[in-house]
Amino acid sequence: MEQYVIKGGNRLNGEIEIGGAKNAALAILAASIMTDETVTIENLPNVRDINVLLQAIEEIGAKVERVDAHKVKINGSFIRDVSVDNEFIRRIRASYYLIGALLGKYKKAEVALPGGCDIGSRPIDLHIKGFRAMGATVDIAHGLVIAEAERLSGTHIYMDKVSVGATINIMMAAAMAEGKTVIENAAKEPHVVDVANFLNSMGAKIRGAGTDVIRIKGVERFGDCQYSIIPDQIEAGTFMTAAVATKGDIMIKNVIPKHLEAISAKLIEIGAEVVEFDDAVRVSATKRLESTNIKTLPYPGFPTDMQPQMAVTLALSNGTSVISESIFENRFRYVDELTKMGATIQVDGRTAIISGVEGFTGADVHAPDLRAGAALVIAGLSAKGFTTVSDIGYIYRGYEQFEQKLKQLGGEIQLVNNEKEVAKFKLKIG
Ligand code: EPZ
Repeated sequence: MEQYVIKGGNRLNGEIEIGGAKNAALAILAASIMTDETVTIENLPNVRDINVLLQAIEEIGAKVERVDAHKVKINGSFIRDVSVDNEFIRRIRASYYLIGALLGKYKKAEVALPGGCDIGSRPIDLHIKGFRAMGATVDIAHGLVIAEAERLSGTHIYMDKVSVGATINIMMAAAMAEGKTVIENAAKEPHVVDVANFLNSMGAKIRGAGTDVIRIKGVERFGDCQYSIIPDQIEAGTFMTAAVATKGDIMIKNVIPKHLEAISAKLIEIGAEVVEFDDAVRVSATKRLESTNIKTLPYPGFPTDMQPQMAVTLALSNGTSVISESIFENRFRYVDELTKMGATIQVDGRTAIISGVEGFTGADVHAPDLRAGAALVIAGLSAKGFTTVSDIGYIYRGYEQFEQKLKQLGGEIQLVNNEKEVAKFKLKIG
C-alpha cells in the first residue's frame, strides 16, 4: 500500500514552481467540449482528477490529444453520447461540470452523481435549481443526474448560498442558453474568473465574473481557442504553510500574489515573513509563531481548502487559536491524526480550538482527504522523528509531484510501498 515515510526536522529551503489550478482546469476541461472546434489548453496540472476527467470526455467521443503532461488539444465535435457514467468519474466531485457543459451544448446530459473528498454532504441542489430555472427538467435516478431541455432560456438566478461549483455550472449552461442570464450572489474565486475567461475566449458573452453578479448573454455556438490555466492558489498556499511550519525559507514561483492575499495576511499576522514579487512570493519564518483566529469564507475570505494546512501551522504556534469552518461540516477529520503527533486540538462542530505546542513527534497517520493529507505531510516534515502517511491517493488527486517538490526543498520524504521499504528509509536516513 503506497505511503509516504518522512524524517522530520529539516527546514525547507529553496524554490519551487506552482502548477495550474486544479479547480479551474476541471471546469475548463468540461467546458472545452461545448465547441465543435479544437481548443488547446496549457498549464494543465498533471494530477489524478484531471486525468480521470480527460478519460471521461474521451469515452463519450471527444478527441483528446495529450501534447505533453501539461498541454492538451480537445475537439468535442465527435461526441456521440451524453451519458457519462463509470467508476472513475463517480469518484471525483468535478464530474458535475459535465452536466452544465452537455446540457448547454446538447440540451441533454446524463452524468453519474459526483463523488469527491468526504468533507461534508456535498449536495448539488443549487446546480439543479439553476438548470431548472433555465427550463431544464432535472431528475436523479439510478445514481445519475438526468437533465434535458427543449430549449434553455436565460433567467435571473439568486444563489441561496455562495457555491463555486454551482456558479460555474450555471454559467456554462447559460453561456449557450437563449437570451440573458443574471447570476446573483455568485462565487468570486479566481477559478470562477478563469472559467469565464476561457468561455469568453471561445466566444461566450460573460461579464462580471469575480464579482457577485455575473451577466451572461447566450450564444449559439463557440469557436476555437488557446488558453492557459491560472496558477493554483491552494498548491501555493500549501507550500507557504510548509515554509512556516518548518521555519524554512521558500521562494514560490509562478503564482498570482493577489490570489494569496488572505493566506499571506494570516501568515504575516502570526509572525512569518511574506515578500511579494510580480509572479512569486517568498515565505520564511525564523522564530516560533503567534496564535490567531481563522474563519473560512468564500473568496476573497480565507479559503476552506487551506484550513487543514493552517491548523498544522497554528498547532505549533504560541498560544490558543480558533478555526471556524463555515463552508463544510466535516472538515476536521485530520484532527485525530494530528493528535497522534502531539497536537492539542478540541473540535466542537464547525469550530476547532487549538492550543499550540512546542513541536510534534512523528507517528503513523492516514490522510482523510486531499488537503488534510497535504497538511499531515507538513506536520511530519516539522515533527521530531519519523512519520508515515497512508491513503496518499487523495494527495495525488490534487498535487503534482508533491514529494518531489518537497525533496527539492530539502524535505526527507520517500514514497514507499511496504513496511520493508519504510525500514530501509529509516536505516538509510538514521
Ligand atoms: C469546490 O467544491 C472545490 N472543488 C473545493 O475544493 C472547494 O473546497 C470548494 O469549491 C469551496 O471553495 C472543486 O472545484 C472540484 P461549493 P464545490 O459548491 O463546488 C454547499 C479541493 O480540496 N452546496 O463552493 O463542491 C456545499 O455543501 C476541493 O480542491 C450546497 O449546499 O464547493 C458547501 O457547504 C475540496 N448545494 C458550500 O455550498 C450545492 O448545490 C460551498 O460548496 C452546492 C454546494
